[in-house]
Amino acid sequence: MAVRDIVIYGHPVLRMKSKPITEMDEFIHTLVEDMIETMIMAEGIGLAAPQVAEPISLFVVNSGLIVEGALPKAYINPVIMEESGTVTLEEGCLSIPDIREDVTRPESIKIKYLDLKGKEHIEQCDDMLARVLQHEIDHLNGILFIDRISQIKRKLLSKRLKKLAIEGKSYSQNVAESKVGL
Ligand code: CO
Repeated sequence: MAVRDIVIYGHPVLRMKSKPITEMDEFIHTLVEDMIETMIMAEGIGLAAPQVAEPISLFVVNSGLIVEGALPKAYINPVIMEESGTVTLEEGCLSIPDIREDVTRPESIKIKYLDLKGKEHIEQCDDMLARVLQHEIDHLNGILFIDRISQIKRKLLSKRLKKLAIEGKSYSQNVAESKVGL
């Protein structure tokens, strides 16, 4: 296993649409192991493959931070099938360090995804898990949480985002310095 660099806002891979995964091969298994290690080191609750510069349809969730004792989990080719309600919660992102903002999203979702064995699962998710899954699925579509805040708030952040983007193009974040995020 190896800790990978997390790319920062401004890196073009964060804006790419991820490709579906067709085979659960060695590459995918190694990537999942590395992403779980990277997420735990960075104290993240979730990490999407584009954040380690792999634009493919996969993310991992640090499930133990949501349900005590749960093991980290990989979601492959996830699709939201249904959504209901709305709730506003504060979000952050490992790729946008030190910025947190309120984001309004559906409260509950029904999701379909594959596990590492290629088995399909359909699950109804609420609360924190629903929030994390939606944030990570956005990453797979090149969407970041700052795209979902008001124009006024984004304008207030524009200087900090521009500064991040200049750094983001040239280097990746040192995981050891990162803060809790998604
Ligand atoms: Co994120």
